[in-house]
Amino acid sequence: MGKVISIANQKGGVGKTTTAINLAASLAVLEKKTLLIDADPQANATSGLNFNPNSTDKKTIYEVLVGIRRMEEILLDTEIKNLSVAPSHINLAGAEIELVENIESIEERARQLKKALVDVRDKFDYIIIDCAPSLATVTINALVASDSVIIPIQSEFFALEGLGKLLNNIKLIQGELNPDLMIEGFLLTMFDSRLRLANQVADEVRRHFGSMVFETIINRNVRLSEAPSHGKPVILYDAMSNGSNNYLNLAKEVIAKNQQ
Ligand SMILES: Nc1ncnc2c1ncn2[C@@H]1O[C@H](COP(=O)(O)OP(=O)(O)OP(=O)(O)O)[C@@H](O)[C@H]1O
Ligand SMILES: [Mg+2]
Repeated sequence: MGKVISIANQKGGVGKTTTAINLAASLAVLEKKTLLIDADPQANATSGLNFNPNSTDKKTIYEVLVGIRRMEEILLDTEIKNLSVAPSHINLAGAEIELVENIESIEERARQLKKALVDVRDKFDYIIIDCAPSLATVTINALVASDSVIIPIQSEFFALEGLGKLLNNIKLIQGELNPDLMIEGFLLTMFDSRLRLANQVADEVRRHFGSMVFETIINRNVRLSEAPSHGKPVILYDAMSNGSNNYLNLAKEVIAKNQQ
């Protein structure tokens, strides 16, 4: 059965989508059958893999969450062998309200994605979920459906701000809805070793979270920010770049952790 990993942090712009796309692509290149689920109405993971979120023909994660389609019906093949994507659409922003209107029980509402994944879990080694910068219903659905969560932390001032709230939410979910949810790891992103502040943040994160922090650090790399506008993961856009190398190392670290 495939391992389901959410990429979550309710703080915006910390590298969730960059991590989701490039970790998923790297796992696929390392011969793991991988599904990337775009669980953000901004649909950045969808467009970053060259799919137009406005022409997805009502086959998106929104329709799956509100129960109109099965997960299998929405999966798209990508340029990378072994990598499929479940696209998103701005409509997903309305899923919160529809779920509240149609499903009375909070627990039941939070289990829609988990239920939808039952059909496809066997077909993949890894299922990576790109979460929106929010802790609302759709993100809760992602965390309830997941075996673990990767928490990207931008190596900048205020990096730890808001983490308490996220960790608290993870505890609540572990307590009530998904006792098996683990923290796969904290990931330092957009790291610039020349900056003293970045080094201080990295030290502080390691002091706080110890061995739960990935050894791999994602450096600031312009290729990573350019790749989405070409509709490619960085490994196809510039395989020799530092960013491509960083995410390949992250994928290897994730695979090694899960083989133990
Ligand atoms: N390692 C990096 N080096 C350079 N630029 C990066 C790096 N990681 C992310 N970026 C850029 O930073 C911006 C924010 O990254 P990203 O979209 O991955 O964050 P996010 O957490 O998904 O944001 P949101 O909360 O809006 O979903 C993007 O423009 C992205 O291209
Ligand atoms: Mg994002």
